[in-house]
Amino acid sequence: MTTLTIYADKAPQKPEKVLTRFEDIRDALGAIGVEFERWEASQPLTATAGQDEVIAAYRESIDRLNAKYGFQSIDVVSMHPEHPQREVARGKFLAEHTHADFEIRFFVDGEGMFYIHHGGKVYMTLCTKGDLINLPANVTHWFDMGPRPNFKAIRLFTTPDGWVGNFTGSDIADHFPRFEAAA
Ligand SMILES: [Fe+2]
Repeated sequence: MTTLTIYADKAPQKPEKVLTRFEDIRDALGAIGVEFERWEASQPLTATAGQDEVIAAYRESIDRLNAKYGFQSIDVVSMHPEHPQREVARGKFLAEHTHADFEIRFFVDGEGMFYIHHGGKVYMTLCTKGDLINLPANVTHWFDMGPRPNFKAIRLFTTPDGWVGNFTGSDIADHFPRFEAAA
């Protein structure tokens, strides 16, 4: 279930708040400039649907975001629990960082955990199937796909090479619960 757990950034042992209602999550993230939406497919998708089919199923929602932000490119990425590069992929963005571009993920399937560090708090956001999360440029965050990653996600970019991690050097991520959900 999609869940937002809010911590004081100095108190990773004790959450201040746990939200599971969509409207509550949307509003709490919206208050710190992070968009959160639920998208529905215009047609049923199978687990093996390819990139074009996936994008076509969410075309209306994608076009709406595109009209707002003018994205230049779009792709679909997926990870599965037995992927040979899963540890490398997981390790890539496990430390706190920012990007010069938006980080947008729409979860077509599966799940992943975003941790947003803002205003003395950490917003630990479990995204699941049907969730769209939009982190604007320079939002401080990290991402954990878990030890047995399982997701298929649409990504949107304003620049093809804008999605490089600028690491803050902070070890804050090490103090918060990792995403350990079994696929
Ligand atoms: Fe990131």
